[in-house]
Order: sequence, then structure tokens, then C-alpha cells
Amino acid sequence: MKVTIEKLDHFGRGICYINDKICFVKEALPGEVVDIDITLENKKYLEANIKKMIQKSSHRIKSPCKSFPECGGCCFQHYSYEEENRYKKDKMIEIIDKFAHLDPKLVKDVISSFEMNYRNKIILHGMGGKLGFYEEKTHSVIPIDECLLISPRMNEIIKNLKSINVQILEALIRSNNDDSMIMVELEGKVSDIELLKPYCDVLIYNGMILTEQDEFISTIGSKKFYLSYSSFFQVNRFLTKDLYDAVLKVVKIKKPMKLLDLYCGTGTIGIYVSDYAKEIVGIDNNGSNIKDANKNKELNQVSSISFICDKVENQIDSFDKIDFIVVDPPRNGLDSKTVDSLLKINPETIVYVSCDPVTLARDLNILKESYLIQYIQPFNMFPRSYHCESVCVLERRSN
Ligand SMILES: C[S@@+](CC[C@H](N)C(=O)[O-])C[C@H]1O[C@@H](n2cnc3c(N)ncnc32)[C@H](O)[C@@H]1O
Repeated sequence: MKVTIEKLDHFGRGICYINDKICFVKEALPGEVVDIDITLENKKYLEANIKKMIQKSSHRIKSPCKSFPECGGCCFQHYSYEEENRYKKDKMIEIIDKFAHLDPKLVKDVISSFEMNYRNKIILHGMGGKLGFYEEKTHSVIPIDECLLISPRMNEIIKNLKSINVQILEALIRSNNDDSMIMVELEGKVSDIELLKPYCDVLIYNGMILTEQDEFISTIGSKKFYLSYSSFFQVNRFLTKDLYDAVLKVVKIKKPMKLLDLYCGTGTIGIYVSDYAKEIVGIDNNGSNIKDANKNKELNQVSSISFICDKVENQIDSFDKIDFIVVDPPRNGLDSKTVDSLLKINPETIVYVSCDPVTLARDLNILKESYLIQYIQPFNMFPRSYHCESVCVLERRSN
């Protein structure tokens, strides 16, 4: 069946309509005319694959990755990077219009960096001697030799793992932001784990730490951060500084007396802005993150910051007289109790760092009654995927 692709959906799939029913076509790009095979049909929608390309988009490029699209890690290796960034801005506009009824002009152009070698973390799965990614919706492994998204030294580790791999079940590989240090955590059975040691600064094998250290340091701007294997760290090694600078820019203007860094991870944002706020409290519910946060406080000699290990929703009501709040929640956004508490605390400024435009829009739709949304700055933290990060600045409305 011949169809014309109208646009991309929020997951990067091409959209067309067949007898007024929406159809999602994998890897099809806007404007393309394609012959499709329907792979799923239900009451509400259809799914399809491209059978034959009839007229391709001028923005289609030859994928530089030989595992695309089979490995399932990327959805845009075949799309020009410029168009991917444009798509992410349009997606942000569409979502904030639909779910928060906000002016599209609030959304700025996407800030982006290199689309290759940007990731500092990857998790590979193993089965029957194969090492790679799980195939979509199954647990069978699509083997990979390299991943174009991760740092060069992480790719060296994949080559080494393939040469020693006997029965690896899971491999977590991390690097620091200048790719000078490597951490590998393996689960499974490896014939000669010692062969891997010279390539790793931190090596953990079935829960045992085989190297002298179990953490390393990553630098963002003038601050340094410990990173241990179980802690959270922003994944894009090129763009995290820009993301944090977007928060810093507002903190520098406001110079708050008391700032809350909610969902603080290893304390990175609070410490990054600490030269411009008098007192800071960071909250995160992950013990490993807070342990690292306290070490990061010492490492950067920031005496004005303290950390609490608990759920934000359990702690937030114990604060008042806060003039600045940064929130950086996981994809499900803020829970309704936290939104109520933010409104009660009523700080002058809220900076909302979001990794999901839909939950951001849902939360802004409530917060906008008491706060003026100044702007939304999207960041392409995850090039070649459909994900879109953003920093949104909110100012308390005057009474
Ligand atoms: C997107 S990360 C942000 C981390 C940090 N701001 C950064 O830039 O590295 C979200 C963090 O929220 C934490 N988290 C998730 N749910 C939470 C909750 N209910 N209360 C407190 N922290 C939570 C996670 O442990 C994680 O560190």
C-alpha cells in the first residue's frame, strides 16, 4: 500500500492516515512516499514497516551505523542531525501547547552538541556468548561490535569484552567526561577477567571490586565530581556543562539566600551553582547518590551545602522561606503532592530541569496559575533518540 508520511510522532515514527485511521511507520520520514506492510492493526491505530521506498526525503542520510535499526538503541541514524534538532523543538512546542496551553514562543531553539561518541554510559546484555542490546519487546540479544554513541575508550572495552566473553550476562561500561577513565561492571562468567584489568580504572566482577578504586572523578566546568558505579550521572559528556550553565545563569541573577536542589543525584547542580547561593539543601532518595554528594561537597570544599537522603515528597513540607528551587525529577515528573508543596513554599523562582516534555507540560499546567513561565530551553542530551531534555524557568506572579 502506497502512503505519504505527514510528520513524525513523539517516538520518532512516521505518521500517515489510512481511511482516517492513524498509522505509525517505522523509520519513515516526513514527506516520504513509501510502500508499506501493515504489521499491527487494532481499533485505534495501525503499525507498519516500509516495504519499498518510492520517494525519499532530502533529509534522509545513509546511516553510519551498521547495527541501525536492528539494535533498537537509536531511532534517527538515518535523519540529518539538523532536522532531528528541529523535530525536537517542534515536539516540545506541540506538547506544551496541547498539555499546558502555553505560548509556543516560550520554546527556544534546541541547544545541541556532537551527535556521536557523546554517551558516557552503556549497558549491554549477554546471552549464549553474544553481547549487545535486547531486541525490542524480547530478551533475545542483537549483538553489536561497537556503538557510535559512546566514547572511543568505551568502544575499546566492547572489543576487549568480545574477545574474553564466555557467558557475560550484563556489562555496564562508564567513562568520565573527558574519556580519561573507564569503569566496567560485569555479571556472568568470564574466562580470564585479569586480561581486562589493564584497560579499566574500576573493574567490578559479580559484585567484587577487582581494582584499587571503585569510583572516579568527572569534571564539569570548574567543579569535580566523584562517580561510583551505582550512582546517577548525566549521560551526555559534551552537553552537561551547558545544561548546568542554563541553571547557573538564573542563579547568578537571583543570588538566592536559600536554594533547594530537589532530585539532586550526586549533588552536581547544587555544587555547580554554589558560588552564587548562600545556603543549599539537596534531596535525593538514592543512598549511593547521597554518599557521593557528601564526598563531592568535600572535594569541592562547599561548606554551604547539605544533603538529605529521602523522597522529596517526604521532606519538602519541612521547608519554608526558600527563595529558589531547582527540580530535576525522573521521567514521571513531579508527583501531585510535591507540586502542592512547591505552591505552598511559593519560592520566587523555580527552575525545572525535565527529561520528559509530557510530564513537564502536565506540571507546568498547574504551576502556571501562580508562576509565569519565562522560557523553555530544550537541550538535545540524547542525540539520535526521540528524547528531549529541557530547562524551564518560572517566576512567581506578583500578588
Ligand atoms: C534526572 S536525575 C537528576 C540528578 C541530578 N540533578 C543530576 O543532574 O545529576 C533524577 C534523580 O531523582 C532521584 N529520585 C527519583 N525519585 C525520587 C524521589 N521521589 N525523591 C527523591 N529523589 C528521587 C534519582 O535517584 C535521581 O538521582
